[in-house]
Amino acid sequence: MSGATESDTSALAVLTLEQKASLLSGRDTWTTQPIEDAGIRSVRMSDGPNGLRAQLNGGDALGFQPSEPSTCFPPAVAVGSSWDPELATKVGEALGREGLSFGIDVVLGPGVNIKRSPLCGRNFEYYSEDPLLAGALGVGYVRGMQSTGAGASVKHFAANNQETDRMRVSSEVDERTLREIYFPAFERIVKEAQPATVMCAYNRINGVYSSENPWLLKDVLRTEWGFEGAVISDWGAVHRPAGAVAAGLDLEMPGTRGRSIREIVAAVEAGDLDEAEVDRSVARVVKLTGLGAEGKVAVDFDAHHALARATAAASIVLLKNEATLPLEAQMRIAVVGEFARTPRFQGGGSSHVNAVRSEAFLDAATAHSASIEFAAGFTLDGRGDDLDLRGAAVAAASRSEVAVIFAGLAESDESEGYDRTTIELPASQIALIRAVAAVAPKTVVVLSHGGVVGLEGWHDDVDAILDGFLLGQAGGAAIADVVFGVVNPSGRLAETIPLRIEDTPAFGNFPGEQGHVVYGERTLVGYRWYATRGIPVRYPFGHGLSYSTFRTSGFTVTVTGDDTATVRVTVENTGTRDGAHVVQVYVDASALGTVQRSARELRAFRKVHVPAGGAVEVELELDRRGFAYWDVDLHDWVVTPGSYRVILGRDAFAVDAETTIDLVGDRINRELTMGSTAQEWFEHSVVGPVLLDTIQSDLLRAMAQPEALRMLGSLPWQKIVNLLGDSVSRDDVDTLMAASRGEGC
Ligand code: GLC
Repeated sequence: MSGATESDTSALAVLTLEQKASLLSGRDTWTTQPIEDAGIRSVRMSDGPNGLRAQLNGGDALGFQPSEPSTCFPPAVAVGSSWDPELATKVGEALGREGLSFGIDVVLGPGVNIKRSPLCGRNFEYYSEDPLLAGALGVGYVRGMQSTGAGASVKHFAANNQETDRMRVSSEVDERTLREIYFPAFERIVKEAQPATVMCAYNRINGVYSSENPWLLKDVLRTEWGFEGAVISDWGAVHRPAGAVAAGLDLEMPGTRGRSIREIVAAVEAGDLDEAEVDRSVARVVKLTGLGAEGKVAVDFDAHHALARATAAASIVLLKNEATLPLEAQMRIAVVGEFARTPRFQGGGSSHVNAVRSEAFLDAATAHSASIEFAAGFTLDGRGDDLDLRGAAVAAASRSEVAVIFAGLAESDESEGYDRTTIELPASQIALIRAVAAVAPKTVVVLSHGGVVGLEGWHDDVDAILDGFLLGQAGGAAIADVVFGVVNPSGRLAETIPLRIEDTPAFGNFPGEQGHVVYGERTLVGYRWYATRGIPVRYPFGHGLSYSTFRTSGFTVTVTGDDTATVRVTVENTGTRDGAHVVQVYVDASALGTVQRSARELRAFRKVHVPAGGAVEVELELDRRGFAYWDVDLHDWVVTPGSYRVILGRDAFAVDAETTIDLVGDRINRELTMGSTAQEWFEHSVVGPVLLDTIQSDLLRAMAQPEALRMLGSLPWQKIVNLLGDSVSRDDVDTLMAASRGEGC
């Protein structure tokens, strides 16, 4: 679509200050201000990450008012379990096309916030507890979407990991944790896919609102990562419009009926805001008018429905299967649970889609089997007489060869805007599962939920469990495809299923109190926590079964540089069905000691499709970041010299193969000061070897002995110099400090 671009500086040059300011705050809920005589058109935006919520006449940011019928694809919680960036690309492309068909220029997704706690009400809208997996899927999604000409909006930047008090809460996070856990998905998407926009989060980070945080929006996002697009606010996230522009925010959404425009103009006129900052943001907002497509974009909703179905089927995780799935068509099947008839297939809030259609399992299953008896088992709103419903379900199960129970969370149990307080299923559902399993020859449970649900209290009573998350409008058909064996399940958990909420990393620090939430677990989020502390879980990150069996062999890790390596492995399908396996490579640097390291960090993965009886060779690169930690003194990534365990994981816990490699790593010569410790002076790679020759002192020589240094090592060098008295000259000390800076070597 034509429109002024950044290069039309002549058009911009004629804009008045007020016209420029009007471009930095939305015209209404979904559009920006046009300036016709400057050839600047309005830019239209719309939710959401798993389907368009296009409101073409006004609307709201929370999904209360109607929107145009669109395809409801599986939300991120499902796509995250597909471990398939190429699939994410296809979904992104389809969403881009549907957005363009409504005249939408920017689709507000993907959501890539890390799942810090399973209680977060919005986890359905995010991919994973792991930043590598979230980033890889987000890159795929953005590339797909932007290949159509529509723009994406990666959100919510940053450390927006709860819904409680989300508009004000301050996420208290140390820099290393931000860099290693909460930033990398955004960083990778910016560097590899250049999203048209980044949406800043509502919350504060260490006391500073994300919408007015120059370190976040300028230093990190632009200077370090090279982001070229526009930073837009989450809806209503701006508190000080002029301060936000100064900090690097380009567009406030939605508009504020002129108040923000007046504040920006006044700030410039008062000399409190540099007009160059306004011009910078104007150029970025105007650049968005270059998005869109020439002419009308047609949408094949049948093809999109088929894609939604295939995506859903590839995302389902087979958690447990004791000689039960897939079912045979002629079996007498009791289908239990209202979700089988009334599927829950998406989350609540701004991402909620007016789905063009939806398929329930019960309908889809009749295409596979003629002997199905249905019993609701429970009411979705938890009211009504569950005992009668349970009795009917037990009766149906007693007449069956297998019972398939649909359990999970109702729409009201989780949503944007609030968090959960438990991970357990409703008690009535647990009672139903146990009662049915007590009479059915075989019992399968299919779960529908956004945030993780606990399996305790019924897990051992049943024979098979499928994790169906929220699967979009075709989810019912996709579950039938897996249950009856049309599709071989290939999903893997993108989030740990813990035994208890008390075992989870954020427990005790979620959702915080009195306006602050402390990320006390630091980098040990998700599986990092359980693996490092040896805490058992019900099912680990990366877990998932198949109707096939896979064997890996020939696992090798070849060091290819000071801080890189190549992994090779052969994956063999030893089963009778074509299927897919996910090669997962974890690094364990926990023995290196410099800083606390996790016993597992996912550093490479690939989903491979292997025909029955066939084999595929996989080669994965471990780059520098696969071994690095963020050093808060150097403000940079550092690879510690030493040994690293490289693990081929069946999941984050189960080891298929492993080896240890030695890396040269980085020779870090930290500048020595009088505040540096004696140990740092003696261990310094340049100063250490010459220290005792330069400072001739028997006392210092005695201090250098291992047992003495163990006691004195933490003393600041100034104290050592004081103890040495006249036996050390200031010149010698200055010379040595200069040498630590690389001077005079
Ligand atoms: C909401 C959400 C954001 C959404 C926006 C517009 O509050 O946080 O994800 O895109 O507002 O609806």
